[in-house]
Amino acid sequence: MKYTITLLAGDGIGPEVTEAAVRIVEATGVDIAWESHLAGVDAVEAGLGTLPEATLDSIRQNRVALKGPITTPVGKGFRSVNVGLRKALNTYVSLRPVRSWDGLKTRHDGVDLVVFRENTEGLYAGREHTVVPGVVEALKIITADASRRIARYAFEYARWTGRRKITVVHKAAVMKLSDGLFLDSCREVAADYPFIEVEEMPIDRLAMKLVLAPEQFDVLLMENLYGDIVSDLCSGLVGGLGIVPGANIGDTCAVFEAVHGSAPDIAGQGKANPIALTLSAAMMLRHIGERVAAARVEGGIARVLTKGEVRTGDLGGKASTHEITQAIIDALPAPEEVRA
Ligand code: NAI
Repeated sequence: MKYTITLLAGDGIGPEVTEAAVRIVEATGVDIAWESHLAGVDAVEAGLGTLPEATLDSIRQNRVALKGPITTPVGKGFRSVNVGLRKALNTYVSLRPVRSWDGLKTRHDGVDLVVFRENTEGLYAGREHTVVPGVVEALKIITADASRRIARYAFEYARWTGRRKITVVHKAAVMKLSDGLFLDSCREVAADYPFIEVEEMPIDRLAMKLVLAPEQFDVLLMENLYGDIVSDLCSGLVGGLGIVPGANIGDTCAVFEAVHGSAPDIAGQGKANPIALTLSAAMMLRHIGERVAAARVEGGIARVLTKGEVRTGDLGGKASTHEITQAIIDALPAPEEVRA
């Protein structure tokens, strides 16, 4: 079977890590025709605006995209292309699996959790305006519909993947209406899943417990901004942004991208860790039904991390993006060696 998948290389380290992920995916033999499109700074420079219609059309048509990070200017400048993309494609689920890897020494062992973040509303939607000079108002929009649909997705995911507990994260004691509605909506959905344990936890208490004993968590479910922060925190628990993958999923399209950004501090130096995007590509392979190839990619990464000889700078090594990419390709298990 031949697949057509949209490829957004992004900017900063984006082109380096997407090239690496594509090479590793291609080494599995899955037949993919990549449709490359622009977004962000590169699209602006090409005179196409930040998020060209052709880019959106390609994703809508192919239904699947692999995406490198895209820079958002701080303060002034254009609005986040990442947020725009999620809104335009209505990819309301952000799914970020976070796990410990053998051979990668961190403060905690046995972390294996999934962060579900509502992707379309909340404070993070960036609806803010100046009321009068010196006074800015930011809107936190929470709707029952959007809260219920992310909750439904998280509960269904837990059911199908055999996860047992969902922690619903909130600050409803203070944001009684907005976080209160999110919490109530999750409770409503939870009632349909009596076989899944549900706990409710204020975001500040979660932060403390994640740092102390992250192994106790299974699935975390929260609104947009909390999810953004908690995902990065969780990345730190298992070795950093260079190894945590992600996906933005809607009813019709899915965009697979790492948690990390465009890392301008190391862009163009051949130092970026391609593992996070490659693991996102493995999630993409599983999403399109190529489960053996997905397991092979993850297996190759596990072997390289366990051996510990080839590591990029963020993981304490000296290897280049190119070297670790080749090491992963060389370590890919054979199809009969993996459990898909
Ligand atoms: P960042 O994730 O780009 O970098 C934070 C730190 O982690 C830097 O020191 C960087 O060198 C390091 N790092 C990140 N990914 C790495 C990798 N694969 N290998 C080795 N080291 C890595 O976060 P930052 O600096 O806050 O954001 C930079 C830009 O990226 C901003 O414009 C931001 O808006 C954008 N961004 C885009 C995202 C996306 O496209 N989904 C997500 C997050 C940020």
